[in-house]
Amino acid sequence: MRKLIIANWKMNGNISKIKHDLESYAQNPITNQDNIIFALPYVFLDNASQVQKIYGAQYKISSQDISQFDGFGAYTGEVSGTILSDLGVEYAIVGHSERRKIGETSDVLAKKLELAINNKITPIYCIGESYEDRVENNYLIKLEKELEILFELNQLVSNIIIAYEPIWAIGTGLTPSIAQIDEIMRLIKVTVKKNLPNAYVSTIYGGSVIADNTKDFLESSLVDGLLVGGASLKAEEFIKICSCGQSVMSTT
Ligand code: PGA
Repeated sequence: MRKLIIANWKMNGNISKIKHDLESYAQNPITNQDNIIFALPYVFLDNASQVQKIYGAQYKISSQDISQFDGFGAYTGEVSGTILSDLGVEYAIVGHSERRKIGETSDVLAKKLELAINNKITPIYCIGESYEDRVENNYLIKLEKELEILFELNQLVSNIIIAYEPIWAIGTGLTPSIAQIDEIMRLIKVTVKKNLPNAYVSTIYGGSVIADNTKDFLESSLVDGLLVGGASLKAEEFIKICSCGQSVMSTT
């Protein structure tokens, strides 16, 4: 299995950048791969999906969120899993710390996970501790708590990606050591396997990933991929990250 490389564009981009970058990624053998996923703002998902279809691109499209409400209805501003899957979206980020910060509770996140799965969208569920949790040695309790909502899911869930993104590493240039990352990857794999025995779980790392540190992370056999924020917006840098992702294979 190739390692996953997920680009999280956050609230960035415009129509011409989306078209330009995704067209060139579709024509580049390094980026035109099914282990590469672009998580884009809602408004660009249709453009991305069109480019993907026109070029027969292998890469996948993700949203950065999904509504806690299903189907269609009077939910102004919401975008449901039904609508996302109609657009060709195959993945959705759920529970990024930047969304938890603006008020997403565990109940809401549990609903979002359930609806993603019901709509055949693979969730990329994010967990991560704050700097205080880390220095006060509370990080394991915090992370276990964030994992708990997964156990309410239907036992038939087949595919889930869990991203460990320490809040203190996001956009800061700070990164945990490989030993610190491995500790959490192991925790996730063991906990999830115990509670969702039928699920195929990929554990990925995110937080200040750049081309220069990609190889170090990917060489860990417990790291199945990376969630890349800032560095995914610079095409040249992102291609270097993907190139590394093609050469280091995952053992899971
Ligand atoms: P970063 O963001 O790579 O810019 O640190 C990662 C993320 O928030 O997903």
